[in-house]
Amino acid sequence: MNKTQPIQIRQSEGLPQIQIAPSLLSANFANLAEEICKVEEGGADLLHVDVMDGHFVPNITIGPPVVQSLKAVTRIPLDVHLMIEHPEDFFEDFRQAGADILTIHQEVCHHLHRSIQAIKEKGMKAGVAINPSTPVHILDCILSEVDQVVIMSVNPGFGGQQFIPFALSKIREVRNMIRQAGLDDKVSILVDGGIKLDNCLSVAQAGANIIVLGSGIFHTPDPTATVKKVRGLIEMGQP
Ligand code: DX5
Ligand code: ZN
Repeated sequence: MNKTQPIQIRQSEGLPQIQIAPSLLSANFANLAEEICKVEEGGADLLHVDVMDGHFVPNITIGPPVVQSLKAVTRIPLDVHLMIEHPEDFFEDFRQAGADILTIHQEVCHHLHRSIQAIKEKGMKAGVAINPSTPVHILDCILSEVDQVVIMSVNPGFGGQQFIPFALSKIREVRNMIRQAGLDDKVSILVDGGIKLDNCLSVAQAGANIIVLGSGIFHTPDPTATVKKVRGLIEMGQP
C-alpha cells in the first residue's frame, strides 16, 4: 500500500512541490514522540529515519523495532534511509515495522535493480542514494524504476556536518536527467545532509523536491518554528 502523497508539481517551474523531511538523527532519542509532535505541528511532510550499521558507515543507530514504535505515534510517512550493508536482508523487517519509503545505497548493492524491485513488490516506495563521490550517471539505468533519488550532500554517518557545495551541481544534473526522461511527476530528488535555513532555498532551486534537515531543525531552540521558517523561505523564493 502506498501511503505517501502523490508528487505535486510547482507549476511555474514545472518542478514538484517541496517537501520537508526532518531527520530524527538529531532529535532527542529519549523523547522521540515529543520531538515528532514538534515537527508535525510545524507541518513536516515526511520523517527521515537514519539506519546505520557500523560497517557501511562509521556509526550505529536504530533498527526495525524503533521504526515500529515511531509508526505508532505518527501519521506522517516514514522515509527510512538504510546506510547498511546487505540491505535486502532487512526489507521485510522494515516493511512490517511500517516504513513507507525505503532507500538503499547504490554503493552497497551488487544487484541494484533486483533490490529496488524487491522493495516495490513489498508495497513500499523505493529510493536509491548516492554518496558525494558517486557520479550521477550511475543512475541512468535505474532512474525510471525508483520513486526517489537521494543525493547525499555530506558523507553519510553523522548529523551536523557541513553541506558539500558540489552537491548543488549534482542536483541540477539529476533534475535534468529526470526532466529529459519525462519523470518529473514520478521521481523525487531528496537531498540529505548539511541543510539549514541559510541554504535550503538554493537546494530547492537547484531542483530538489524533498529536503532533509536534522541538526538544522532539532538543534534549534524551536523546531516547530524552524520547520515553518524553512517552508516560508522556500515559498518566498519561488517565482
Ligand atoms: C547522514 C544522515 C542524514 C543526517 C542529516 O548520514 O543520512 O540524514 O541526519 O543531518 P544534518 O541535517 O544535521 O546534516
Ligand atoms: Zn539520511
